[in-house]
Amino acid sequence: MSKTANAAGATARPAPRKPVRPSSVVLKLIMAVSGVLLILFLYAHAAGNLKIFVGDEAFDHYAHWLRTIGTPLLPDAWFLWIQRIGLLVAILAHIYAATALTRRAKKARPVKYAHRPKVQGSYAARTMRWGGVIIVLFVIYHILDLTTHHLNPVKDAEHPSANVIGDFAPERWYVTLFYVVAVVAVGFHLRHGIFSAARTLGQQTKQGERRAKAIALVLAVVLVAMYLSVPFAVTTGLVG
Ligand code: HEM
Repeated sequence: MSKTANAAGATARPAPRKPVRPSSVVLKLIMAVSGVLLILFLYAHAAGNLKIFVGDEAFDHYAHWLRTIGTPLLPDAWFLWIQRIGLLVAILAHIYAATALTRRAKKARPVKYAHRPKVQGSYAARTMRWGGVIIVLFVIYHILDLTTHHLNPVKDAEHPSANVIGDFAPERWYVTLFYVVAVVAVGFHLRHGIFSAARTLGQQTKQGERRAKAIALVLAVVLVAMYLSVPFAVTTGLVG
């Protein structure tokens, strides 16, 4: 008798294979690694933008350099494309892990709390979800604005500084406002993300929690200030 035949002689069907599901720890690790990559990009990008305070030429030179990093070892713009693909993978991985973790948390509590207090957890989860949506929409707009220039009023491929200055002209206050909303959303996202990552890494003491909160707040505020200084300086005529 074959191994899969039962006592009555019938052949037992092999159990259907369960789809491979990454564990919650793996998902949190994906969130953390992709989050760190995105934070590194955000800081580098914010620091580069500050070149506009040195002058138009310095900013344009910097923007040109972004396209030639790695040459002559790599052909022109290769590094830029490697970075773009890396960013896209990091964003998709971050969204995938966040969605899967949220679904699992919901499944773990199929019956809703009868009197759910307005706990910080649900507030933070909502903020992260909607903040994430605003950030994704902003990045799409931002690429169409300052990378492909479809939505930019100046569209000067040689002088990215002119595109930035044209963007935040006082009469385009609504564009500036959108940038402010998006950058503040990035700040909230970053603050909560860093704080949650510290918890995932095992941070549990009261004192450690206070410290993690303070570090997360400082990192977020510094980043927001770096980004917002550019539209603020252009709108007020400090730059341009
Ligand atoms: C208000 C502040 C910002 C300014 C002035 C600014 C400026 C720029 C400029 C000039 C470019 C085009 C670079 C080039 O093609 O030469 C660019 C590209 C980009 N920015 Fe920003 N940016 C700002 C905020 C942000 C924020 C908050 C994010 C992310 C949430 C972001 C993400 C990107 C991405 C993903 C690209 C595309 C890079 C590429 O071409 O591959 N930027 N930005």
